[in-house]
Amino acid sequence: MKKILPSILSADFANLERDIKELEQVGIDMLHIDVMDGNFVPNISFGFPIIESIRKKTKALFDCHLMIANPENYVERFCQIGCDMVSFHIEATNHADRVIQVIKNLGKKAGIVLNPQTSVESIKYLLPKVDYVLIMTVNPGFGGQKFINEMLDKIVELNNIRINKNYNYLIQVDGGINIETSKLCRERGADLLVCGSFLFAAENKKQTLGELLK
Ligand code: DX5
Ligand code: ZN
Repeated sequence: MKKILPSILSADFANLERDIKELEQVGIDMLHIDVMDGNFVPNISFGFPIIESIRKKTKALFDCHLMIANPENYVERFCQIGCDMVSFHIEATNHADRVIQVIKNLGKKAGIVLNPQTSVESIKYLLPKVDYVLIMTVNPGFGGQKFINEMLDKIVELNNIRINKNYNYLIQVDGGINIETSKLCRERGADLLVCGSFLFAAENKKQTLGELLK
């Protein structure tokens, strides 16, 4: 089943509860949560206290996208504070296999993320183990950037491997998703579509969510 995951990076941080409730009212049950450390990416978003606060306000699944160096030092805590899915960048650690084990041993879904410059080849050995693969379709760090078209080939590549090897991972895309790019990604096999600025800018979110999956 194809899903839209709103990225709360584009929400109003002074009114996070209001914005999350509004999303719930239009049927959202998964939220994408972007954690940035100012080191792995040139931006700082938020960390544990914000996630703990919003965890108390919604039953939606939390998909936590860690854009942080050395995720092995922090994944356990992100799992413990109530993230249901945790993804980390292959470029950010020398211990990817271990990080996946930690996340899964805590009963959560583990995802691996590829920057635009990183090849699918580099994570081939992890594909039987991960629950999802996130293909960055912009350079990580900021909302509101333009979709990088060349990433469509990576979705095709991952989808072909999944079919040929009978793997179970879901394919997620993140960055520059709008009605047009959502369709291009879904046609190539993407299952989970993160959408930030486009969805939050929409006057009618219910209608826009429908259009994003049409
Ligand atoms: C970018 C983040 C994205 C971001 C997407 O580094 O990982 O999740 O919020 O925002 P849009 O949809 O505006 O490109
Ligand atoms: Zn993200």
